[in-house]
Amino acid sequence: MKNLYNALQLKQLYTLRLLGYNYSNISPYKEDEISLQLPQNMQELKKQINNCHLCELSKHRKNAVFGEGSLNAKIFFIGEAPGINEDASGKPFVGRSGEMLDKIMSNVLKIPKEHVYITNIVKCRPPQNREPSSVEAHTCLPYLYKQIELIKPKIIVTLGATAYHYLTGDETQISKIHGTVIEKDSFTIVPTYHPSFLLRNPSYKHEAWEDFKKINQLYNALI
Ligand code: URA
Repeated sequence: MKNLYNALQLKQLYTLRLLGYNYSNISPYKEDEISLQLPQNMQELKKQINNCHLCELSKHRKNAVFGEGSLNAKIFFIGEAPGINEDASGKPFVGRSGEMLDKIMSNVLKIPKEHVYITNIVKCRPPQNREPSSVEAHTCLPYLYKQIELIKPKIIVTLGATAYHYLTGDETQISKIHGTVIEKDSFTIVPTYHPSFLLRNPSYKHEAWEDFKKINQLYNALI
């Protein structure tokens, strides 16, 4: 699987850079190795993530947080990383920011939670809830790509800057790009604010509500 191969190569290069290398032609992974294939179904993928030790975050987790929701979801939410409650339960968005996301879904988006799929950029909790490092995010991204490939959503909503930046590679500030409808491959991507940012900065709720109303229109146009 090309994405996993690339992630492992990148991880190796980051490690070498930390060790002081500026150039390397070391190629430790062979693309056709069986172990680089990610499973073609969600159950097996979840098992693989539960047993993943590709980055530092795996050392501290209680539970990997795979993701949750409908396997036929047309709308797919991506957050940043599990927090303490998610790490304890193994489920995404169950803490305060989860409550906020639930309220947005029922009151603004008006889509039942069971109809969407929710996951994160990284599947394990970063210590002290810090932002995932670039190595951690890139190492975990192939799992997210595979989830997207298997679920085939039409709309992808990125929650917060980290999710948007790592999914698209675009580093535009979230305050500038939120609410923009981006057509990429067969997906419509809509970046918006992270629920925990809205809890800390309630004055941004109005902007976020407008984003979610737009997402609601896009969703209604699909069904
Ligand atoms: N914040 C996130 O980004 N993801 C979660 O699952 C919980 C909080």
